[in-house]
Amino acid sequence: MDITITEFHTKKEMYAQMAQHIQNIFNETTDLYAALANTSALMALYLKDINWVGFYLLKNKGLVLGPFQGKPAVAHILVGDGVCGTAVKERSQQRVDDVHSCCNHIACDLNSSSEIVTPIFVNDQVFGVIDIDSPLPSRFDEEDEEGMGLLAEIIAQRVKDFL
Ligand code: SME
Repeated sequence: MDITITEFHTKKEMYAQMAQHIQNIFNETTDLYAALANTSALMALYLKDINWVGFYLLKNKGLVLGPFQGKPAVAHILVGDGVCGTAVKERSQQRVDDVHSCCNHIACDLNSSSEIVTPIFVNDQVFGVIDIDSPLPSRFDEEDEEGMGLLAEIIAQRVKDFL
């Protein structure tokens, strides 16, 4: 699969482009895991200054590591634990500017300084989260929150085809 990154001037344009690629990725496979794997690769291609990006999927009472790009990471996270588990428990996006001053953070890659976790809601239930780590403090802003929210909504719509 050849992904062409065309020129963009704003983060809004970048996320709109990523959204279109994600639709194409889901159009090209009938396997959810393959689609999520390519989606994590796409995000790694587009997002600068990040060291981990991927999915944790909710199974029974906990999150289980899904397709990702980055260093090997913790395989299981309980709801309420870490930034990912907090996003599930509170059913809300979490943006942490400095993970070292965040008491509820699970360190996977010691290089990580900031993090954004976006829940994916399918039929009003948390299906999983998209987790992104950056080695830079305060790497993510409100435009990233908005952009990742958009991508999570698109993924949620496409996940419904597999349920
Ligand atoms: N930092 C996450 C754990 C997962 S790794 O960042 C990949 C957390 O606190 O939930």
